[in-house]
Amino acid sequence: MTESATLSGGFGSVVKKVFVKSYGCQMNVYDAARMSDVMVGQGYTETSGADDADLVILNTCHIRERAAEKVYSELGRLNELKEQRRSNGLDTTIVVAGCVAQAEGREIIRRAPVVDAVIGPQSYHRLPDLLRIARETGHAVDTEFPDADKFGALPAQSRERIRSRGITAFLTIQEGCDKFCTFCVVPYTRGAEISRPVAAVVDEASRLVEAGVREVTLIGQNVNAYHGLDAAGRTASLAGLVERLALIPGLARIRYTTSHPRDMSDDLLAAHCDVPQLMPYLHLPVQAGSDRILAAMNRKHRAADYLQVIERVRAARPDIAISSDFIVGFPGESEADFADTLRLAAEVRFAAAFSFKYSPRPGTPAAEMADQVPEPVRSERLARLQERLETDRQAFNRATLGRVVDVLVEKPGRHAGQLSGKSPYLQAVQTSGIEAAVGDVVPVRATALGPNSIFGEPVGHDTPHTMVAAA
Ligand code: SAH
Ligand code: SF4
Ligand code: F3S
Repeated sequence: MTESATLSGGFGSVVKKVFVKSYGCQMNVYDAARMSDVMVGQGYTETSGADDADLVILNTCHIRERAAEKVYSELGRLNELKEQRRSNGLDTTIVVAGCVAQAEGREIIRRAPVVDAVIGPQSYHRLPDLLRIARETGHAVDTEFPDADKFGALPAQSRERIRSRGITAFLTIQEGCDKFCTFCVVPYTRGAEISRPVAAVVDEASRLVEAGVREVTLIGQNVNAYHGLDAAGRTASLAGLVERLALIPGLARIRYTTSHPRDMSDDLLAAHCDVPQLMPYLHLPVQAGSDRILAAMNRKHRAADYLQVIERVRAARPDIAISSDFIVGFPGESEADFADTLRLAAEVRFAAAFSFKYSPRPGTPAAEMADQVPEPVRSERLARLQERLETDRQAFNRATLGRVVDVLVEKPGRHAGQLSGKSPYLQAVQTSGIEAAVGDVVPVRATALGPNSIFGEPVGHDTPHTMVAAA
């Protein structure tokens, strides 16, 4: 099965190079790494740009309109590159993977014949086979949702490759979605919700930690709906999984994302109190503050339910940083509906947030709804919401000033003597004058705010740790 990864040119054999360019969510970041693992397993080496790549994989995202358009313009550029390389006697294979691949399938090859193969997110373990078929027949498309466990079939990541990616890592524990929000393509591009077994997750996390990873972020489209089987054949919740992972020596921090408000269980809240490795950060998308719009979105919760969840979360862990996603200009959204969204944001005061203009996605129910909101109205509402969210983000960061926070050092800072890392609340922190190595967790006093990071200085050993109060 293993194909030769060497090219015989006039100057002898050269190792083939693969470049994966990724768009979209953390799941795609994880998948990109795994696809390049697959190709490294086939004898390729990784390269950091398309120019010298024999194989270019675009790992696409379909969540909003511009993402897919970016892919087609990127394919236009790759077409020129392929021509250029061809005139130098070099072949370039181009693969489109990810959610645009799943949604558009063969249409991609029709619109961009430069593409050799199209592969959906559930088929990455079949990448070498697909490349062989493309070579033999000209093109190949695989957008099936196979029964086989993709994760089990993917090669394990090598120690060296884990190390090269730094001391924080994403780990997919759950994939797909059964919730069918009316605006969203994910249930169609990623398929039905599946959870990986506890042992598979623990094995992968242990391997990451053995290679030097200190923080693992568990990822999934509905990660708090995780329900993987344990060794005894029972179903484990996300909290159960976190407790198990916390037993891995050397794993300093555990995070998880993205959660759904309907799946915030009491045992997960308890884990935020009881498991010191579980960081006080919760990304809990609300999308909108109007019950009418939430119903049209099929979110299956009201604004009051969301606020109640936030209350429970803060009762369990008062210092927790809460972030969210918002969509403005969903079909039928009136000024009064939008005012409800602003009111909800003002009430919660999010530590961070992503906010988007609604973008109709072909094939989703919302794209067919009447009363699409005109573009200028969407833009104007987005600007107003972002002003609110930015004020709250800065207030959250300001509340850190003067306090001591534990920083996980991720890399050297921008200037000599500086270190760069993250607080428990996922704030970027730059430190100076601190003796520490990458991977250490060090207490730091927050002394100043930059636009996107906090500056911190050493603390004396006698200074007590304090928590950032939910302002
Ligand atoms: N599973 C997560 C997030 C999925 S996608 C959840 O349930 O919230 C990430 C974010 O993209 C969503 O939270 C939403 O805010 C945004 N998004 C999804 N579809 C969109 C669309 N059609 N238009 C604009 N934003 C969208
Ligand atoms: Fe999309 Fe809704 Fe599923 Fe999130 S819960 S992935 S927004 S359908
Ligand atoms: Fe995009 Fe697919 Fe992730 S649509 S957000 S890459 S699940």
